Parts: sequence; structure tokens; C-alpha cells
Amino acid sequence: MELSRRTVVAGAAAAGLTAATIGSAQAAARGRKPTKELFGTLADGTKVHRWSLENGGTRLKVLSYGGIVQSLEIPDRHGRYANVSLGFAALDDYVAKSPYFGASIGRYGNRIAGGRFTLDGKSYQLSVNDGVNSLHGGAKGFDKQVWDVEPFTNGSHVGLHLHYTSVDGEMGYPGTLRVKVTYTLSRHGEWRIDYEATTGKATVVNLTSHVYWNLAGEGSGTIEGHEVAIAASRYTPTDSGLIPTGELAEVAGTPFDFRRAKPVGRDIRAGHPQQVTAKGYDHNWVLDKGVTAKPEPVATLRDPRSGRTLKIATDQPGLQFYSGNFLDGTLVGTSGHAYRQGDGLCLETQHFPDSPNKPSFPSTVLRPGQTYRTSTIHSFGA
Ligand code: GLA
Repeated sequence: MELSRRTVVAGAAAAGLTAATIGSAQAAARGRKPTKELFGTLADGTKVHRWSLENGGTRLKVLSYGGIVQSLEIPDRHGRYANVSLGFAALDDYVAKSPYFGASIGRYGNRIAGGRFTLDGKSYQLSVNDGVNSLHGGAKGFDKQVWDVEPFTNGSHVGLHLHYTSVDGEMGYPGTLRVKVTYTLSRHGEWRIDYEATTGKATVVNLTSHVYWNLAGEGSGTIEGHEVAIAASRYTPTDSGLIPTGELAEVAGTPFDFRRAKPVGRDIRAGHPQQVTAKGYDHNWVLDKGVTAKPEPVATLRDPRSGRTLKIATDQPGLQFYSGNFLDGTLVGTSGHAYRQGDGLCLETQHFPDSPNKPSFPSTVLRPGQTYRTSTIHSFGA
């Protein structure tokens, strides 16, 4: 369901807000040029900015560090806003200990076995940062780089272009990769991500976004009551290091069946060996639609308490559903609440993990002269 301006105003009225507040809610529903402020300074003196943009009832704050979504606010069924994306209040926490909160992930989202792959007869050793494997681009992935950010308004859309150049050999990857990630808020409050990349040498690319969702508001507790639906009849089971075995297993008759919406918590304790390995859900779903030319609906998330909903459409073949298994109460988030296991969940649109070592998976190879282009659209409602 799209959030119209009428919904915002009706919601505001239901929440007992004044005429003045409703007026500003209406103004807020129209796009305006993104603004920036200083968010912090890195150890080497680099300044990190936070950009704020708003359109169609969605409010987004993005850092130049990691292209991180630091806050994403949407209204509930009564028009009350909450930040539905886990994060930190301060830059130092992102630098020191973030489990990829809100980040732009690259050069390769998720794991590459042994941090190694062979392409055109040459082997490459990547930065290894998850046991023996390479995770989310290695020790200093795109999530820990400073991006050039350029704001834009385009008709009724507002957004940011984020640019990053990953040089040949960075984290072990071949080829200088020029990346552009565009975050757009539409006048209906949809958040769209468009990825673009070109390379100087043959390489592998798999870019994604690592927002941890909690539609009841970050810091409000578990997402086990959230309902998830994923349009996938199969998923990719993993070994003990969370590397796909190569098998595409049927979800039918297993806790992995989300073809009809069900609460995350319903089957999370079923004791399926794949869940025991992952401490919950941390798997790639094989989207039934496959790779498509345009984004198609693949997943929905709904919090029955607040009424907030998220619909995801993508052109990508896979979706990593991670149920926040590694959150352990040691990180204190944006609003000052500790995040415990399952206090947020990720729905990462992507190519399958370890594709560079799995010839049967859709290819993630990018060659000079080609342009990598993929898009994901997040639509919110209440
Ligand atoms: C991804 C992975 C998880 C975990 C998180 C970050 O979702 O699949 O295993 O590494 O990122 O903590």
C-alpha cells in the first residue's frame, strides 16, 4: 500500500496532532532538496557528513561513511513516526563495532569461501574477515569507505548519488571498480536503490544494502512477531561456515517456507539443522522469478502492532534473510537501547553467496565494457 499525503494527514489527525503540525506534515510529504550536516570526524581527519532527505512521508538520513542509512523514519497507522532501521548515534560506534548497520555492501555481498576464487584461469586471494572466509567485501569493505555524495532533486523525486572508486587490488579484488549508488525517495515515499558499476579488469561484483529492519522502531525489542513473506520455493543450504553447499533445497515442509506470510518466530525454534548452524535464519532464498530486467515484488514485512509494512521489489535472483542472530545485547543503538538477538532483521537483495566458486549459480562476473546495473525498491505502508 502506498502512503499518500491523505494518509499522513488522516493519520496525524487520528494521533491528535494540531493543525500546525498537520500543515508541516503536509509540507514534509513534498520533496525538498537534501541537506547535510557534520556527523563526525575519522581518526585521519576526514569529515563525515549526514544527509537528510524526506519525501512522500519517508525520512531518510544517510552518512557519507559507508553509504550508511543511519535513520529511516516512517509513520504507523496513526501517523506516528519511528526510526525503523537499527543504527548508532555516533560515528565512532560505526567505525569500531558496527555489524554493517544500514551499510552499502561491496565489492561482494555475503561470503566467498576461503576468500578465494579463480577467474579466467587466475586465482585471487581476498581479505579474509569471517573465520577462513571473506564476508561483505573483506576487512575494509565499501561499508567502511568514505563516499562522495551528490544530492539531487528530479521532478517529484529527491535523492543522493553516492560515488566510490575501489582501486585494482583493494581487498584482493581485481580491477578498478567505479561504483555509483543512487538512493531516491519518490513522492510516494518509496526508497529506491540503483547500483551501477564499471571495471577496468574482469572482476566479481555483488552490491547490496544491509539495513536491519524493526518496523516497531529500533530498540523496541524483538522482530519475532513481524510477518515475513518471500516469493521463493527454494533456498541455498550452507555448511558450518555459512557457505552454500551448492544445493538448491525446497522450502516446502521446512521452517524455510515463507511463501505465505508467517511470523518470524513461528518456526525459528524448530531445530532444523540449517537453523541450528545459523542460530536462526541466515540464508539466501532463491527467488522464483530469477534475474529480471526490472524490479519485481519478492518479499513483504509487516509489524502487526504498528501496522507498518515494507514491500521489496528487485531485479536480483536472491534474498538473504538474516534474523539478527549475532546481536547479543552488547551494542547500544541510536535511541540508547541495547540490541539483543532478533531485535532487527535484514532482507538483502543479492546474487547468491559464494557465486564466484559455484559455476551453477547465476554469474557475478563483470567485464570491462559492461555496466553492472541493479535496482531494489522499498515501499512502505501502514
Ligand atoms: C549477513 C550475513 C550474516 C552476518 C551479517 C552481519 O547478513 O549473512 O551471517 O554476517 O551479515 O553480522
